[in-house]
Amino acid sequence: MALAVRFHDQQHTIDASHSFFDDTLAGLSASPKWASPKYFYDLRGSQLFDQICVQPEYYPTRTEEAILERAADDIAAIAGRDATLIELGSGASRKVRLLLESMHPSHYLGIDISKEFLLDSTRRLAADYPWLDVHAACADFSHAMTLPEALDDARPVAFFPGSSIGNFDPAAAEAFLLGLHALLPPGSGLLVGVDLVKDKDVLEAAYNDSAGVTAAFNLNLLERIRHELGADLDPARFSHRAFFNEEQSRIEMHLVSDMPQVANLGGKRIAFQAGETIHTENSYKYSVEGFQQLAARAGFSVRALWTDANDYFSVHYLERT
Ligand code: AVI
Repeated sequence: MALAVRFHDQQHTIDASHSFFDDTLAGLSASPKWASPKYFYDLRGSQLFDQICVQPEYYPTRTEEAILERAADDIAAIAGRDATLIELGSGASRKVRLLLESMHPSHYLGIDISKEFLLDSTRRLAADYPWLDVHAACADFSHAMTLPEALDDARPVAFFPGSSIGNFDPAAAEAFLLGLHALLPPGSGLLVGVDLVKDKDVLEAAYNDSAGVTAAFNLNLLERIRHELGADLDPARFSHRAFFNEEQSRIEMHLVSDMPQVANLGGKRIAFQAGETIHTENSYKYSVEGFQQLAARAGFSVRALWTDANDYFSVHYLERT
């Protein structure tokens, strides 16, 4: 019986608050201004993201879950029993539950940037699946990672759901996959969810839900900058904006300054013009072929592919060659 979650800290997380300040100062001093989406995920941001996933307009989560439910037995047949399932950006660890009964892995490793959220969700997983050896690592997976020694002899299947890969630009996505290629032994699996290009209205509605949850998620970044970095930014003076940039095939999220204003961050004066934006996130949308070509360049071949009836979302089982 799994009595507890084995927790592994990755070295680079120790400096996390330092890089939040440095990255934010660099982004707000730049022109145009930007902020890194990885800082969305404090405890509140992770909770808001969880709420986004159940908004009626946000189709990716429920579409991917339906695909996983339908494909679970096929996935298990490819992966085999007793694998080590490694979930990247595990968040609430909900999707992985759709795979556990069919796949019956020996070990599970959840990796997430939000420590409280990670510990909470992996503890629940360990309680619900007593036969599973559960590990948790707090890490920013956009950095190089190592697998905990306890999993040295593992046969890994990495699981990267939710189209989180779309939050990297395509060159960074390829570099990320190359990093996974270096981390995983030959023959390892990579199960990855990728959102597909579709009608602009469907895409834009998903990032402008009528309940305003995505707006709150975006604006929460300013709350974090205010509370954790001591900046005198007032989130009430900014608005959420999200639109599909067809040329780049990406949803862009911005925070728009509603008025001319000046803020202070670590003694540095940050001036905003009315209408000026902080570019907070890109969410790239791929074609199936476009994504598979990118994966091939990083050394992953296609074992299987599942999509939904509308071709809104894709799940790829890739093999590290
Ligand atoms: C985590 N990631 C895949 C989400 C997305 O759709 O790009 C983040 C998100 N941003 C706004 N809504 C959801």
